[in-house]
Amino acid sequence: MSVAETDAAAREILRANDRGRYTVPTDILYPFQWNWDSAFAAWGFASFDVPRAWVELETLLSHQWENGMVPHMIFHEEAPGYFPGPGVWGVKRSPPTSGITQPPVAATLARSILVADPDYGRPHMEAIFDKLLRWHRWFMTERAEQGMIAVTHPWETGRDNAADWDAAMARVDTSGVGSYKRRDLEEVAAEQRPTKAEYDQYLAMVYFGRDCGWDETEIRANGPFRVADVGMTFILLRACRDLLVLAQEFGRPTDEIAGWIETLEQGARNHWNPAGYYDSVDLRTGAFTNAPGSASCLCWYAGVDDARMLERLGRFRSAVRYTVPSLDPSHPGFAPTRYWRGPVWVVMNALVGAGLAEMGYVGMAERVRSDTANVITRSGFYEYFSPLDGAPAGGGRFTWTAAVWLAWASPHAKGRMI
Ligand code: SER
Repeated sequence: MSVAETDAAAREILRANDRGRYTVPTDILYPFQWNWDSAFAAWGFASFDVPRAWVELETLLSHQWENGMVPHMIFHEEAPGYFPGPGVWGVKRSPPTSGITQPPVAATLARSILVADPDYGRPHMEAIFDKLLRWHRWFMTERAEQGMIAVTHPWETGRDNAADWDAAMARVDTSGVGSYKRRDLEEVAAEQRPTKAEYDQYLAMVYFGRDCGWDETEIRANGPFRVADVGMTFILLRACRDLLVLAQEFGRPTDEIAGWIETLEQGARNHWNPAGYYDSVDLRTGAFTNAPGSASCLCWYAGVDDARMLERLGRFRSAVRYTVPSLDPSHPGFAPTRYWRGPVWVVMNALVGAGLAEMGYVGMAERVRSDTANVITRSGFYEYFSPLDGAPAGGGRFTWTAAVWLAWASPHAKGRMI
């Protein structure tokens, strides 16, 4: 396929997954709006339809909770083929949502979309700015601990079965979970998805949140899971930097956002595992999670320069054919096609690669970008890929893979975030 044909195929996937005012990550497997998937969809749309990009972000943010949280899923339509659906989450809103959030890439990608067409984008950015601000404030109020961002469920991180969560997950009591029927395994091979034991733990955590009415104070005090996610801290730090630039451009107050950046910069230092990489921290025990992977490499994207991580990324890269593996290939839990325990996810590559380029590590940035383009060209627009041989895994015709191609990886793309 020529580059022009691959570009056209990516656009066709975005159009096919477009449900009017939001985009599904992929048909059937994920039939609703997911928070960070949607922000990436908007980024992809901006390469050929800027108005549609803004619609995507506006829809996402219009389902913000009163406390500022922007949910990780919005159940716009009924889709009984998905589990766990709105009945399991027990959130009484119309349309229903989940009760947790997801990585806040929206402010950064919105800024990128604004740059694509500043005249068109200006009123749209004006319309969502306060919502982004309130979402970031919710993170800083409810979730910042020692400057790091706590997550209350692995699904918040977007990296559901990452090794980061293993020790904390092992303490989750699953005795009340009972039986249920997973629907994801009807679409994707079981060895490419989280295990049954992990699903029992995911559900126990959802039931805890539901039973306390998603009360953050109760979840903070007694919730079964609280981990400071290195990915979330870096992504929010970056998002706050973009929000600060937007605040300056739009004549809004900047002190509060500047304060958040200072706090999160301190938090980033607290994520440094003396073993030699940025790592998540189990907040119930204070222990590092010992899980180096692509999230550790978001430091550059967050504006945190670190030559030590460059060396670590070089080691990851020499162990695989397609970088960036979601888990260090030398980690005992590495599994090349099992969801977040090894596969390459091109959204992470885009964030890591864009960050490297901004920091001036042009050679490494270009390698991450060319690996991304090559794996998509080899295998198609899949959800994730084996870093060892590029084998496709998970769902096909995937929105964010198509979006990353159009916005960043394609030789026709700008290849930068801003
Ligand atoms: N990623 C989860 C799923 O697989 C939910 O966010 O359904």
